[in-house]
Amino acid sequence: MVVIFDCRVREDEVPDGLKADMYRVAQEAMNNVVKHAVATEIRVTLQRNANDILLTIQDNGIGFEQLPLSADDASFSGLGLIGMQERVESNGGSFSLQSSQRSGTLVSATWRI
Ligand SMILES: Nc1ncnc2c1ncn2[C@@H]1O[C@H](COP(=O)(O)OP(=O)(O)OP(=O)(O)O)[C@@H](O)[C@H]1O
Ligand SMILES: [Mg+2]
Repeated sequence: MVVIFDCRVREDEVPDGLKADMYRVAQEAMNNVVKHAVATEIRVTLQRNANDILLTIQDNGIGFEQLPLSADDASFSGLGLIGMQERVESNGGSFSLQSSQRSGTLVSATWRI
């Protein structure tokens, strides 16, 4: 698997309080790619706009149809996606997930800074 890390942010631009969350989101999203996606590539990006900082993890794998982002659905799948969402939102960020068979899965987290 090819892993590309496109980092457009200096470390001192990242608030200390967000670093652990960013690490955990990237870790779980990448674990999911390895476990589920049958992908050949993961692209991780970190970029900063005027008021926010954006982390994305994109794979080119098989995608999935059910987006299990409610706690009820978690009992069928796992806690990874919900845990990521809760972690991001608990620090004022927003979390999104896009997935399709054609283009793989994109996990994004944005925090205002
Ligand atoms: N990148 C991905 N590509 C394809 N399917 C995915 C991807 N990420 C998640 N999924 C699907 O979504 C389901 C839920 O993911 P989630 O991380 O919540 O649970 P899990 O990985 O199965 O278990 P856990 O994270 O608790 O070990 C997975 O079981 C899988 O079917
Ligand atoms: Mg998982």
